[in-house]
Amino acid sequence: MKQSKTSFNKPPDVHWHSSLVDRQQHKIRNNHKSFVLWFTGLSGSGKSTLANAVEKHLFDNHHRVVTLDGDNIRHGLCSDLGFNEEDRHENMRRIAEVSKLFVETGTIVLAAFISPYRNDRELIRSRLPHGDFYEVYCKCDLDICEERDPKGLYARARNGEIDNFTGISAPYEEPIKPDMIIDTNKLSIKEELSVIMNNLIKKGLIDEKCAL
Ligand code: ADX
Repeated sequence: MKQSKTSFNKPPDVHWHSSLVDRQQHKIRNNHKSFVLWFTGLSGSGKSTLANAVEKHLFDNHHRVVTLDGDNIRHGLCSDLGFNEEDRHENMRRIAEVSKLFVETGTIVLAAFISPYRNDRELIRSRLPHGDFYEVYCKCDLDICEERDPKGLYARARNGEIDNFTGISAPYEEPIKPDMIIDTNKLSIKEELSVIMNNLIKKGLIDEKCAL
């Protein structure tokens, strides 16, 4: 039977080898929990900037942490993918799998992807153990993102030079019940970071010493 490129199922005749070092041992060694913070929002909404700020703050506080960023991941792991619905779905599937590997080895994952489809985000949540996935909605109006246009892509999308551009010629499905909402057009980066840290502390995911 042919395996679909975008399938979440395992191929036949492949068996899982368990590691000799389990997640609990990583947790004890690292002295913190591991989980995925999934930043979703329009291009230019500030996902990567915020994920990078969280990474730096947690790193400075002795946490093992990695940022997976849409633009960067599309340079390598997902360089074969475009922006139609199927390719974005496959992008999500790969990142979900990579995130799982990191979480299993005790690392906090900061994933910054437009991830425009609600179903895809819910699928990722369902692929991770309960309590491992937290959706952070970087909320920013389209006209603000378009005004910022840090990469000049909105202008090119408006000119018809880029197809399937999120917010212009492709949909963005807002989260209905995200774990956190960050108003990225109202708050400073420091304020955003503080909201995230307070939330993580309240959820018991990180220690109070990380408060800002
Ligand atoms: S996702 O929709 O599949 O989650 P991803 O986060 O990996 O997208 O990549 C988004 C980045 O790719 C944007 O920040 C932008 O720089 C670039 N990009 C290029 N073409 C498009 C497009 N058609 N739609 C959205 N982003 C695009």
